[in-house]
Amino acid sequence: MDRYAVLGFPVGHSMSPFIHLQFAEQTAQQLSYEALEVKPEAFDKAITDFFQSGGKGVNCTVPLKELAFEKADQLTERAKFSGAVNTLKLMQDGSLLGDNTDGIGLITDLLENLSLSLQGKRILVLGAGGAARGILGPLLEANPSELWLANRTIAKAQRLAKIFSSKGPVRISNYEELAGERFDLVINATSSSLSGSVPPLPKSILSKNAVCYDLAYSQQTTAFTAWGKEQGAALSVDGLGMLVEQAAQAFYIWRGVMPETKKVLNKIRRG
Ligand code: ATR
Repeated sequence: MDRYAVLGFPVGHSMSPFIHLQFAEQTAQQLSYEALEVKPEAFDKAITDFFQSGGKGVNCTVPLKELAFEKADQLTERAKFSGAVNTLKLMQDGSLLGDNTDGIGLITDLLENLSLSLQGKRILVLGAGGAARGILGPLLEANPSELWLANRTIAKAQRLAKIFSSKGPVRISNYEELAGERFDLVINATSSSLSGSVPPLPKSILSKNAVCYDLAYSQQTTAFTAWGKEQGAALSVDGLGMLVEQAAQAFYIWRGVMPETKKVLNKIRRG
């Protein structure tokens, strides 16, 4: 049986095994998928061992995505832009292909599951770390009228804007300077949800019918989705849809079959 896994630290609560095994059942693919807890210092050996013992592909999650980027023999263009890899695939010639399906996962959730349109919209991304870098490329390619990037540390936002300058303009700002602006879509790509806090956002930055999207996913409401609801967003959601969609794209890269995501998403939402 073809073997796959998600590597992370911690990884105990990962939903990837459930999601991928649902995809496999649905598409009649024979495969196994497990969660492996791997510390950064053990990553290199874990990857070598996994692929030497017949593994076909892995997903990498926090804090291993940058290490997976280094480990890949070849990178897709979107992985290069992201500076991180969440999907490694063993190729016919024994080399490892590194891809990043996070950005396309987000876009698919926004456009298909939530039926939103991004073209001509004012989009604000909060945070300028690895999570933000993974989504900026596909967001720019969706032709928003403006894409703003707000972060506490301006230098980090400037660095990202420079990396993506060939794809389109990114407006840099700190949180205070957002006062008086209005956005149709606000995406939380900071790690603030992990500590149950929200970036210090001014009031009234949401346009009518605005959508708030937290890249983080939690069984409980995240602090940012709660903020969005308080601020009157038409829709305020967490990143569960993105999680399932990035998994579907990884599954497609490995197996050449695109699974049906809505059924799996509904199953998880029902608990
Ligand atoms: P990740 O890979 O999850 O993006 P990261 O690269 O460490 O993690 O980046 C974390 C991001 O969350 C950064 O943009 C960080 O802001 P700074 O660059 O100014 O440090 C942001 N962040 C974390 N906690 C935050 C908080 N409580 N309020 C606002 N921003 C926060």
